[in-house]
Amino acid sequence: MDPSSAAEEQQVGERGEPPGREDSLRPRCLADYIGQSELKQVLGIAVAATRSRGEPLDHVLLHGPPGLGKTTMALVLAEELGVRCRITSAPALERPRDIIGLLVNLQAHEVLFIDEIHRLNRVAEELLYPAMEDYRIDLTVGKGTTARTRSLPIVPFTLVGATTRAGALSWPLRDRFGLIQRLEFYELDDLRAIVERAAGLLRLQLDSEAALEVARRCRGTPRIANRLLRRVRDVASVRGHERIGAELVEAALTLHRVDGRGLDASDRRLLTLMLEGYGGGPVGLETLAAGLGEDSTTLETVIEPFLLQQGLLQRTPRGRLVTAAGRAHLGWPAQLVA
Ligand code: ADE
Repeated sequence: MDPSSAAEEQQVGERGEPPGREDSLRPRCLADYIGQSELKQVLGIAVAATRSRGEPLDHVLLHGPPGLGKTTMALVLAEELGVRCRITSAPALERPRDIIGLLVNLQAHEVLFIDEIHRLNRVAEELLYPAMEDYRIDLTVGKGTTARTRSLPIVPFTLVGATTRAGALSWPLRDRFGLIQRLEFYELDDLRAIVERAAGLLRLQLDSEAALEVARRCRGTPRIANRLLRRVRDVASVRGHERIGAELVEAALTLHRVDGRGLDASDRRLLTLMLEGYGGGPVGLETLAAGLGEDSTTLETVIEPFLLQQGLLQRTPRGRLVTAAGRAHLGWPAQLVA
């Protein structure tokens, strides 16, 4: 086999592969996708309209914290459109031929999903512009004074880009998406429904109070909910519980250092560092990242968003600040106002 095509096979996943852990619990169609009602409504209308016109769906940019269902939504869109979804991620598109290979192998109206799209390099990004706009790839043939540009037509397709850092996307790329949607943290009721659905698929007997307890502790994130549910299942099977109640969930998740509000060890380490080291702030992101030995992007895109949404942390022009609710959650006394 040509080594480049082997590499391509590795980068590109698609439906039809043996399901991974996460894949087995993913909803397959819009009707099964719980929560994100505005997103579902917008995309549902766009899918129905383009299907009735026989056109490809406009390019879609999905942004928001990790684990909220961006990849799942790309797969759902492909399913709703009745086409295949090719999955890749920007770091896998290092050489021009990586992205060209993907684009020329697409079938009409297929979905190309590029995760972490803010990490595309400049060459890959510039190859994408005419592909997105005019379904064409501009190739430079030859070198020096004999170099010429040749246009290669490709089939109409839909690019679904996903990013945790919408602000890091270049404007020309962002402008080429017809639909730009943010995924929000999930509501408690939706999370409970997601946990109950996953428990059914995993054939677990989970009380509704137990489902609610997992929902409360999953940082508003289905991926975490499903992960916690598997940890609860481990404890239940080792302790010989057939039915899983709220107490067992509490015991299992406490063992995994997830507290009643869903904060994990990393969240508490951040808040504790701010309180013990900086009087609760304000303190700069880089200082905190260095203190925790974390990369500042991880801190900003993975850890902080949930703490901000919960009102435990605040971003101010002078840096990050632990709120009164954050202090109370960690058992610190309220700050005296001078
Ligand atoms: N599993 C993970 N995310 C889900 C969602 N949004 N709806 C249903 N099941 C899910």
